[in-house]
Amino acid sequence: MTKGRIFSGMQPSGRFHLGNYMGALENWVRLQHDHECFFSIVDLHALTSAYENTSQLPENIHNMALDWLAAGLDPDKNTIFVQSHVKEHAELHLLLSMITPLSWLERVPTYKDKLQQLGTQGKDINTYGFLGYPELMTADIILYKADIIPVGEDQIPHLELCREIVRRFNNLYGPVFPEPQAKLSKAALLPGIDGRKMSKSYGNAIPYAAGPEELKKRVRMIVTDPQRIKKTDAGNPEVCTAFKFHKIFNTENVAEIEGACRGACIGCVECKNRLADRMNESLADIYARREYFASKPSMVREILEAGAQKARVVAEATMADVKAAMHL
Ligand code: TRP
Repeated sequence: MTKGRIFSGMQPSGRFHLGNYMGALENWVRLQHDHECFFSIVDLHALTSAYENTSQLPENIHNMALDWLAAGLDPDKNTIFVQSHVKEHAELHLLLSMITPLSWLERVPTYKDKLQQLGTQGKDINTYGFLGYPELMTADIILYKADIIPVGEDQIPHLELCREIVRRFNNLYGPVFPEPQAKLSKAALLPGIDGRKMSKSYGNAIPYAAGPEELKKRVRMIVTDPQRIKKTDAGNPEVCTAFKFHKIFNTENVAEIEGACRGACIGCVECKNRLADRMNESLADIYARREYFASKPSMVREILEAGAQKARVVAEATMADVKAAMHL
């Protein structure tokens, strides 16, 4: 029945956007049907860079849980939990840190990039914890002896390092861990409202489950063909970001929209209103589920607690294997 064990995680670092959903979460929802899945809200990872002010963390974790449940991740099918609720993540991270050469961590490309990027924003992440980011990720994955890891392309170097650490552990202490495989989620094809890659830091994101009105407002801001000033000008859909959205959300009507734009039969405002309506239709179930779970905060807490309990059973068994192998 199951095609393998999956682990993946996301940092609870503020509001989720539609690009995150289409790039990752939608994938997870598909995978849950024929895999045994562990999905973790990785709050310890959030601490590796945002350690100074942690007051938003509880709210961010709750919102992330709502976003996941809204997407249709089924808590009965999957193990959905908060990383810090399962202390074995920290314990295994410590043991792995003993056998990981410093140079392996220092050469991870994301390490140097982030260090520079955040350094220029005045954030000091010259810390032990930040260097250990991929070490903690390794602990997350192998604690559940997961074999398939759905991630975006940016995480590939971390997965490579994870496999190296696994090989080293198995060589030193015996074959405890399988080598996990990355499963690349197809790159998010959804652009931001300005046509660049959708990103929180560009300010071009469309929020994920904010509801029909908010979505409509953002869709109205999508950039269109800059050459098309008046409705009577013929438009060029090829350079129009709204048209890219139609191709994703309004597949049945793209041909008609394209013709109407080129023939100057439909104005940009109407075109975007139709797009927003179609998007709202396809997101309707997500809105409904988010509202449902948002009205039941104690139920969400129970889901996460039950998930942590399920995760702990597996994590404890792995730690018993690890300690036996290491003679601890
Ligand atoms: N680093 C991942 C990201 O930012 C999140 C993450 C933490 C993760 N632990 C993981 C992903 C384990 C996959 C497996 O996207």
